Amino acid sequence: MRILFITHSFNSLTQRLFCELTVRGHEISIEFDIADSVSEEAVALFRPELIVAPFLKRAIPESIWAKIPCFIVHPGIEGDRGPSALDWAIQQRRAQWGVTVLQAEAEMDAGPVWASANFPLRTTRKSSIYRHEVTEAAVRAVLSAVDHYQSGNFTPLRVPGAAHALMQQAERQLDWQAMTSAEILARIHAADGFPGVADSLFDESCHLFDAWPEASLRGVPGALIARRETAICRATADGALWIGHVKRAGGLKLPATQAFPEAADLPEMPLRDYWKSASATWQDIAYEEAAGVGFLSFEFYNGAMSTAQCRRLTAAFNWTKMRPTRVIVLRGGRDFWSNGIHLNTIEAAESPADESWANINAIDDLAEAILRCDTQLTVAALAGNAGAGGCFLARACDRVWVREGVMLNPHYKNMGNLFGSEFWTYLLPPRVGDAGAAAIMRHRLPMTAAESVKLGFYDACLPGPSFAVDVARRAAEMAADPDFCGQLLKKTEKRAADEAEKPLAAYRAEELAAMRRNFYGFDPAYHVARYHFTAKSPNSWTPRHLARHRDLDWKIPQ
Ligand code: COA
Repeated sequence: MRILFITHSFNSLTQRLFCELTVRGHEISIEFDIADSVSEEAVALFRPELIVAPFLKRAIPESIWAKIPCFIVHPGIEGDRGPSALDWAIQQRRAQWGVTVLQAEAEMDAGPVWASANFPLRTTRKSSIYRHEVTEAAVRAVLSAVDHYQSGNFTPLRVPGAAHALMQQAERQLDWQAMTSAEILARIHAADGFPGVADSLFDESCHLFDAWPEASLRGVPGALIARRETAICRATADGALWIGHVKRAGGLKLPATQAFPEAADLPEMPLRDYWKSASATWQDIAYEEAAGVGFLSFEFYNGAMSTAQCRRLTAAFNWTKMRPTRVIVLRGGRDFWSNGIHLNTIEAAESPADESWANINAIDDLAEAILRCDTQLTVAALAGNAGAGGCFLARACDRVWVREGVMLNPHYKNMGNLFGSEFWTYLLPPRVGDAGAAAIMRHRLPMTAAESVKLGFYDACLPGPSFAVDVARRAAEMAADPDFCGQLLKKTEKRAADEAEKPLAAYRAEELAAMRRNFYGFDPAYHVARYHFTAKSPNSWTPRHLARHRDLDWKIPQ
């Protein structure tokens, strides 16, 4: 079928549905929901048989839904209607939630239901539920809704329901003196990544994000009691919570200690080492070991890796190399493995060009440490999505295993034509060929986990539910392999041969020369793109590589 997506942005859920429907032979084109007239024009050009709205912030106009069936992906169970659907479910600590695909009509979310899928609701932040449970349920529901529609013999049913309102800050309000840690955590989770919970720190109003439970520290309820790296700890009525990220009025979402330099005066509570803490606390880099395998997790908010985070992770990796293990698994975070350099801390820096330069060098140092590791075999295990430099950082490992369902964006050009670094010019062509590498960079399209393996870019795509167990088992098998020493030798010989042919330093220098032009050259495209990305400027047009109906040579197939 010819299916038009009308969507607020090409977010990870939209990307996933785009890939899932494309691989099933549907022809998809995308129009961002910018104005009714623009959507009407897209419909006239593409003449879709069906419209899917994976992520909308406003209603589709009657001029469209009255003519063509429009499937709305609603992040709520059947009968749930209205905005802030996930926010309400998380804040009310519901045990089950779901996704419903319903047909657009005049009343919001009240149209007939074409499919739905439910899931148990984890205690975690909204964005994490969205990227895992909601995405998986939406894929199941949209695929069955499309099948139902195509079959021609399915009658969608109307489900009675009630609409809730947009959740207001008054309903999210925190009372640090009276509320328990669990209550405050649920409120911050329900608003994370957007809009955050309005609160104040150091007598300044701000929005809070990225809350973590703390098991031991205590203080006068409401008092700020500690800091650790970039997070700050605040006492609640029955314990304490860490706040990782904060957005000050008119500012960007930033690590808490960067948003509030005053936090430097709080008592520092460093962790003694990298070992994963036995009790709940804020720990962004955590190490575990089993069966000759070291597991290094880095739970960096949104997968963004600042200069300081890259340096800390490089130090942790170098420490990990000293352990008596045979395999190191780089686990990344639950939601993201890595999205490359930290565009928010760069944007907030006094000199974004200098900070970009420092950040790309710091991430390259990490990639180089992984590439030069001659004591263990390394594995990148991607449980979460990866984008831009993060995709190539993973490829610096000897093996890359990726969870089925992960979305990858292994290209840089969307960020103002960045050339990119992280040794991609060394790592990508041998995997996919020169032409393949050029196509990936040029097309700027997302890639599913399965596609990445089919192309030879990554090594294995493992089923979602058992991913962590499978990774541990496969890594333990690598460590126990009787030919382990042979494998390690093969790796070091290959590295030496590659180095003799063209040193890593040469790849790095070439990539960084191009990046220097991106950061300091006369073309400001990267700085403009980063500004709009971090400011979350609304889209003013749909890029041509997505809006295929706007290609001059696009014709409706006969
Ligand atoms: N630096 C800072 N923040 C980043 C980031 C980065 N490199 N990559 C993603 N984020 C943030 C987004 O701003 C968003 O923040 P929010 O929680 O305040 O909404 C959040 O992470 C999720 O990003 P989003 O774009 O909504 O997720 P997605 O899964 O739909 O898309 C990407 C993923 C990777 C396609 C997209 O985030 C992206 O293009 N990131 C930039 C990658 C990049 O160019 N890196 C620099 C070059 S190495």
